[in-house]
Amino acid sequence: MSLEDDFTDVIAKAMRGLGMDVQALSTEAGIPVGEIEALLGGKMSGAAAGAICAALSLDADALAALPRYLPQPPVPPGVRRIELPFGKWIVNAWEVGRGGVRILFDAGCGERDILEKVSPHGLAALLITHAHPDHIGGRDAVAAQGVRVISETEALAAGRFSFGALEVKAVDLSGHCIPATGYFINGLESQLFVPGDAIFAGSMGGCKTRETYELAARTLRAAFAEAHPDCVLLPGHGPATTIAEELASNPFNRRFA
Ligand SMILES: [Fe+2]
Repeated sequence: MSLEDDFTDVIAKAMRGLGMDVQALSTEAGIPVGEIEALLGGKMSGAAAGAICAALSLDADALAALPRYLPQPPVPPGVRRIELPFGKWIVNAWEVGRGGVRILFDAGCGERDILEKVSPHGLAALLITHAHPDHIGGRDAVAAQGVRVISETEALAAGRFSFGALEVKAVDLSGHCIPATGYFINGLESQLFVPGDAIFAGSMGGCKTRETYELAARTLRAAFAEAHPDCVLLPGHGPATTIAEELASNPFNRRFA
């Protein structure tokens, strides 16, 4: 298990979100283009990283520590991470169950991969975080097994759902994708939050424009404001984490603190 993104991905996503190319970042950070290109190529330099973190509003200490960061959250019983193929990468689906009632979040990239790892029998619902192909590729195959599918827009319109003892609340997480929905789940030992690609352990899903990058920060901050302190995050890529760990160790932490 490793993080979804390394420090070069984080820098590239921050540049893209702020609409800065290497030249613009060089001017803003006051360091030569070559030093930025070296960083983006994977050569870590503390001084250069410090300068560009200031220009990109990233947490320089968190970025420097990213190669050693691997959160170990107390994921409660009943939660299962399902790794699904996404080209040469992995995408997560999450199964959450209690007392014989199971719900599934997202459906992977392939048309039937999800059904090889999750039984549709007795599955109360499939809830979608956002309609990127790596999250909805198996949606129709699950629906064809008679499982109720709740899209990100339907979830936001309804707001709250109950599945046995599991209480689910949908919140807007637009930014990386519009629309996008996050799900708080209460009813297990810890509160859970399924954010889709709005945040990963040590990173976040990329945003195409400055506007959507700012929107992503606003929606995530609003969601976290209503979370329990021990809330466990179940992201669309990479390992589970907690809000507290991400506040300390995610280089983008200033955007949602
Ligand atoms: Fe996505």
